[in-house]
Amino acid sequence: MKTAASMPLRLGADDGAPLYRRAEGAIRSAIEDGRLKPGDRVPSVVDLAARWKVHKLTVLKAFRRLEADGLLESHVGRGTFVRSAVPSPSPSALVPASSATRAAPPAPRTPRQREAYDRRLREWMASARRSGAIDLVGGVPSAEGIPDGLLGRLAQKALSKDPQRLYGYGGPAGLPELREAIARTLAREGTEVSPEDVIVTNGSQQAIALVAAWARDEGRAAFVETPSFTGIDGAFALFGHDVQSVPWADGAFDVAALRASAGGRRGVAYVCPDFHNPTGWTMPVDARRALAAWAREEDGAVVDDEIFRPMRFEGEAPQSLYSLLPAGRRFLAGSVSKSFMTGLRVGFLVADAPVVADLLTPRRHMDLGSPALVQAIAAAFLDDGYEEHVARMREANRARRDAALTALEEAMPKGVRWTRPEGGFQMWVTLPDGASSIDVFLEGVDRGVAIAPGPVSDTGSRWTSSFRLGYGHGTPQDVREGVRRLAGAVEAVLSRRGASSHAGIEV
Ligand SMILES: Cc1ncc(COP(=O)(O)O)c(C=O)c1O
Repeated sequence: MKTAASMPLRLGADDGAPLYRRAEGAIRSAIEDGRLKPGDRVPSVVDLAARWKVHKLTVLKAFRRLEADGLLESHVGRGTFVRSAVPSPSPSALVPASSATRAAPPAPRTPRQREAYDRRLREWMASARRSGAIDLVGGVPSAEGIPDGLLGRLAQKALSKDPQRLYGYGGPAGLPELREAIARTLAREGTEVSPEDVIVTNGSQQAIALVAAWARDEGRAAFVETPSFTGIDGAFALFGHDVQSVPWADGAFDVAALRASAGGRRGVAYVCPDFHNPTGWTMPVDARRALAAWAREEDGAVVDDEIFRPMRFEGEAPQSLYSLLPAGRRFLAGSVSKSFMTGLRVGFLVADAPVVADLLTPRRHMDLGSPALVQAIAAAFLDDGYEEHVARMREANRARRDAALTALEEAMPKGVRWTRPEGGFQMWVTLPDGASSIDVFLEGVDRGVAIAPGPVSDTGSRWTSSFRLGYGHGTPQDVREGVRRLAGAVEAVLSRRGASSHAGIEV
């Protein structure tokens, strides 16, 4: 254990952040880069306040925040120490005592609680990445299907004519050639929009953030589906929304629950209706119409996150939700990243022209626009190579989905249920009532397979009995072997708790 006095802790340069945040950052980075080790005593409040020439209360506030995050612990009369155990992303931190899966949303969390929660989730999921482990976490496209040299060829094409067009700011709405290519791609997939309705964003994540900014200015309440990709809830919270969760139930977004929760307030509702993350469900047309009716009757706005829609490998696509929504209050979020490579960070938001005009101001304030060269690469890809690439991905995902379904049938204990997605990269597995996907996750880590337990898909830590099974990577054989290992983990968890093998949950 080091003693405190000699500790080289420097307050970072003034970056405009409040002093207590800079103090917090100085200690946090010393812990993160190992200068302060578990068990080390941190210099006292008085000592640090004198060294940094700040008020003692400033240091105290930083200590309290680090304690709340589980990084420090204070002992009366002895001092403050770096906690010996890494703030564990322990199951109990993530899961409320009641493991109800469809319970009412918990009390709203503060942005600070959300941040800490997010960090814990990330640390927790990182523990699953062991060499030799089969990754069934999923949710992102596989790099295996991208032909060698494709990115280089696209970059060359992007630069081959008039490279000067890419030297300056491309504007907050994006390069005209990419806006046009996106409109053409959507039209081929059945949604007619004008290039003027398209804003190019840094990933569809930024598209959601833009809607959150718009909705805040409009004074709208935010309603986000659960389970969900938690980045969505986070994007709304970032813009000051106190997000209300609306559950999916039995394969559809629960519009009745939305109506009840909104109670006549003007709102914005977010859904991912095609191959939903994390369940793989596709919202039936009736549920789409019901959501559109809510928007019409209650002056509601809706975000249709279509990032997985191009990934259908089976069955007929239902009408796009966007096309059913009332003009002026509808948004379509899409992503070239999700169909190609997530590192490209090219997404888009589609809205009606007057709304696009409103959105360009917050967009300008966020980052002035997306990188021009990357946009030109994406435009070259959409016009030449996208169709073939997506077709290859669909076939690869179908083969992996089939391998997962076969292995689930063969190996899973009785009482376990799963969805049968018609596209996308992921399915949702539900354990016999009361069994915990956190236990399965931990057991799976030891057996060399990683899944995303249900609470990862909900900022309120619900959906404990379910988990996301991603089948977007590896060969069908890898997926089959991963599901077999997983079945072993489920079996072990169920036998430990002596669960009855027939208490299924409908999915
Ligand atoms: C449903 C959903 N929407 C949006 C995103 C953000 O994707 P990107 O910003 O890479 O386009 C994700 C990422 O996993 C997601 O699952």
